[in-house]
Amino acid sequence: MRAAPHVTAVAGDMSNSVEAKDGMENPEFQMEERESREVIVTNFSAGPADTVEASAYSQIQPYAGMPREVLLIYSHRARYRLPRELIFWLIIACTLALVALTVTVVALSPRCLSWWQSSPVYQVYPRSFRDGDGDGVGDLRGIREKLDHFQYLNIKAIWISPFYTSPMKDFGYDVEDFRDVDPIFGTMQDFEDLLTAMHEKGLKMIMDFIPNHTSDKHPWFQKSRENVEPYSNYYVWTNCSIDKPPNNWVSVFGNSSWTYDPLRKQCYLHQFLKEQPDLNFHNPDVKREMTDIIHFWLEKGVDGFRMDAVKHMLEAQHLRNEPQVDPEQPPETVDTEFELHHDYTYTQVGMHDILRGFRVVMDTYSREPGRYRFMVTESYDYEEIDKTMMYYSTDFIKEGDFPFNFYLLDLPQGLSGTRAHELVDLWMSNMPKGKWPNWVVGNHDKPRMSSSAGKEYIRAINMLMLTLPGTPTTYYGEEIGMENVHINISDIQDPFGKFNPNSSRDPQRSPMQWSSGLNAGFSENQTGTWLPIHPDYLTVNVETEKGNSSSVLEQYRRLSHLRESELALHRGWMCYIWKDTNVFAYLREMDGLRRAYLVLLNFGEAAKTDLAFIKELPSDLTVHTSTIPVNNGKRYSKSDIPTGKGEGLVLEFSSYQRFHPGHKSECYISEPACYLGALNILYQC
Ligand code: GLC
Repeated sequence: MRAAPHVTAVAGDMSNSVEAKDGMENPEFQMEERESREVIVTNFSAGPADTVEASAYSQIQPYAGMPREVLLIYSHRARYRLPRELIFWLIIACTLALVALTVTVVALSPRCLSWWQSSPVYQVYPRSFRDGDGDGVGDLRGIREKLDHFQYLNIKAIWISPFYTSPMKDFGYDVEDFRDVDPIFGTMQDFEDLLTAMHEKGLKMIMDFIPNHTSDKHPWFQKSRENVEPYSNYYVWTNCSIDKPPNNWVSVFGNSSWTYDPLRKQCYLHQFLKEQPDLNFHNPDVKREMTDIIHFWLEKGVDGFRMDAVKHMLEAQHLRNEPQVDPEQPPETVDTEFELHHDYTYTQVGMHDILRGFRVVMDTYSREPGRYRFMVTESYDYEEIDKTMMYYSTDFIKEGDFPFNFYLLDLPQGLSGTRAHELVDLWMSNMPKGKWPNWVVGNHDKPRMSSSAGKEYIRAINMLMLTLPGTPTTYYGEEIGMENVHINISDIQDPFGKFNPNSSRDPQRSPMQWSSGLNAGFSENQTGTWLPIHPDYLTVNVETEKGNSSSVLEQYRRLSHLRESELALHRGWMCYIWKDTNVFAYLREMDGLRRAYLVLLNFGEAAKTDLAFIKELPSDLTVHTSTIPVNNGKRYSKSDIPTGKGEGLVLEFSSYQRFHPGHKSECYISEPACYLGALNILYQC
């Protein structure tokens, strides 16, 4: 309302101003001016008070600092409108293009690897890793003293076997208090200090979680025995007589899985020791209690769980006898796990739902960047691999990130190149598409590879794990080539070993060999250690192997770094190339990257391998890493690649020709990605 009178006055003063004059001399402007005056005069009348302001506007060009109404008068003219519209549409087009580009980049970018994919997982058995308080048994303080070891090996994910309060009948897998640390391992403060120290060094902690059972000393069980509510139904109880179990079910550790309790005058189920009563997961209170414990540790900041013995979590409620493997065997002689088909005690319907429920909780703690909480499941399904694969999440339902792959543990039985191929392929060909593989060659339950396969093969076995696609899990000591220790039958500590000495797990649990000093640097205790130290500790130990390029340790370290730094190794294609009695070979390559690797592993006798028929390979290949370091840097013709007994080779070559496009059925990739050298980026392809 204030501007219109200015314009009515413009005509009178305009001839006095230079700007106005210029404008007046412009016939077009004169015409525009006249038109505008007409328009405005018809709409507004000038009051005397507006005359001064109006004259001010007469001094300036109509398009300089003009009020809105004036602007509107000119804005529809083509010479103003067109550039304006042009700029407007340009901005819209650029915005849309940017949005489209962002969406495309996001859609085409392959997912970044999570921490549990980019690093090997290292298993610490806390009793045996390092004794920080000098009592001969390893503990949490001891682990904290050795964090540099993980950094040295370029390992960022550490799984620690149980350290909960426990009567130690199964060395911590019998838990008396899920919310506290056993004094033998330290205090809750020691745990918190360890976790803080690990996080400060960029290390992740995976805890063992034992949902299937508790210790018989757990307060829940004590109350359950007394039939105190709500605990009476926390375990699996049924009527029976003192000397006759309710059915033929047997424990994993041997003999009946039922024990009569004189207090409650019923039998309770235990799929492991009688001191490890099975929780009753049909009871929702049990699920809630166990979920609360998961919350407890996630709140404290742990980064993941290894879920123990999950296939045992549910049992059929009808309690029928399980079918015998050999129907002719006298039933009273059936006392081991392998003599029954576990149709009613293993992998029951509903078991996966329990794990999925745990996963939901873990996901609520996974939202902060870099704080993904990882879940790995432990289930020995032997040849029933489809059961194992069920633990992988699907696109719709999240569960474990992977189930442990225990199939390579069978490598020593018939060790050969063909056997290695068969076991690797067993996993690869059964794994759901797009999932992440993993490899285990030892743990606290299984004999060490360097003893069962032979120590001349340990380097090639480590090389296999570290160069296959997926996450390798390394049991403490494998990185230095530790072997099983001999334990006299009378000295056996393991309850499973007491039932069957051939199944004793003590030999693979001997103390870690850090140095050639007292107790191999494991403990300062003058009176010994909880299990004997392996006599080879004078040469097989971290200190001695450090810096020695031909040691198992240095080779592990070199490959662990190579795995992380080479795209082809950590997220490229894996293609089978060769298998025979002696040798197993595969390629690791990525589209867009010239550098590729051929891994050739000898699991038999010295051999020469002729790969001349593989046209995608250049005629000569360079040894990047051999388990026999004098061979590093050598060039081999592809028609004649020599390997010594147990030698492993990572051969490097440069080529734009890729093998996988022509051999889809022999190749595997988790999530396809290509490398764009010009921009140094990866994209989905
Ligand atoms: C798992 C553990 C094993 C333990 C058993 C019972 O299999 O790896 O050591 O004895 O569960 O908890």
